[in-house]
Amino acid sequence: MSRIISRSFLQGCAEKNLLDSLKYQPIISAMQRALILFFTGTGNTWFLADSITKELRKRGFKADMIALERSGGLDPDTFELLGIGFPVYSGCFPYNIWRFVRDLKNVHGKPAFVFSTKAQATPGSEALLARLLARKGYRVLSARSFIAPSNETLLLGPEDISKPEVLKKLERVKNEVPGFVEDMFAGNGVIEKDNTFMLLSSLVSGLAFYLNTGYLTNLKVTDKCSRCGLCEEICPAGNIGSSLTRPRFRNRCLVCERCVNFCPQRSIVHPVTFVRTSIRYRAPGYRPPLLRKATR
Ligand SMILES: Cc1cc2nc3c(=O)[nH]c(=O)nc-3n(C[C@H](O)[C@H](O)[C@H](O)COP(=O)(O)O)c2cc1C
Ligand code: SF4
Ligand code: SF4
Repeated sequence: MSRIISRSFLQGCAEKNLLDSLKYQPIISAMQRALILFFTGTGNTWFLADSITKELRKRGFKADMIALERSGGLDPDTFELLGIGFPVYSGCFPYNIWRFVRDLKNVHGKPAFVFSTKAQATPGSEALLARLLARKGYRVLSARSFIAPSNETLLLGPEDISKPEVLKKLERVKNEVPGFVEDMFAGNGVIEKDNTFMLLSSLVSGLAFYLNTGYLTNLKVTDKCSRCGLCEEICPAGNIGSSLTRPRFRNRCLVCERCVNFCPQRSIVHPVTFVRTSIRYRAPGYRPPLLRKATR
């Protein structure tokens, strides 16, 4: 991972204003099919991806959304515009997003954009992903974050979605989408915080997180577990296995928080967290797919 990221990153920095020079080229008018690919743990990024997809459809695109669960590669001939969205984890993008972009086929100037949801202003990951996409030959029109409720952060913990001020954050996300799309097509899209310091800080905090996620991946199941099997069905990483007694966790957790927040018994817990709370977060309307049933 580090070899590919550092090569992209260093070359990206050396080619000064690479993205700037690309983003002011006129946007091709024949764009018809848009693919909005996203990852979500608890639904915020799904909510944003859905708002962007609807906005693109309003503007005449044939826009489709695909959730990056346990899916495979992508054929670049099936779309003219690619959007990639993710929740920010420790100032960076999730590991599966990096793996997905690493495996993308090279293209020549195909337009793309990046969007993320996060709880606080931790910058850099959007620009970092934009640079990785640019290395694959994508013309990145815009890369920006949207502040959404926290599903789990060191300082905030999970926020209570029944509180009007928390719900309002999602409304704000939705209200910002038309302007985001408008700016992008008007050639005024921005690559947020695209500077060496922010790129480095995203890279370093992302690497530190993925090398040592123990304090969050060390999930435990309490006695309240009813052995319903839902956590195993919805885990996007296939990290939860059946056991005669309780679910067992393997060692490929993405730290998406889905199992913690959707367990009907609230019986999955982090033994060590800085913010101890009984609150569970999920974006209204979001239902994770039942992945194990789908692949049987
Ligand atoms: C493991 C983990 C790390 C996170 N790190 C950050 C962070 O560094 N900065 C931030 O603003 N939000 C952080 N968050 C909060 C999420 O990015 C935010 O709530 C996001 O909208 C969740 O999206 P989702 O509902 O699509 O999964 C983190 C969440 C998790 C689970
Ligand atoms: S979702 Fe909760 S109750 Fe159901 S099996 Fe998993 S831990 Fe147990
Ligand atoms: S074990 Fe839980 S937190 Fe980890 S990837 Fe699976 S659903 Fe997400």
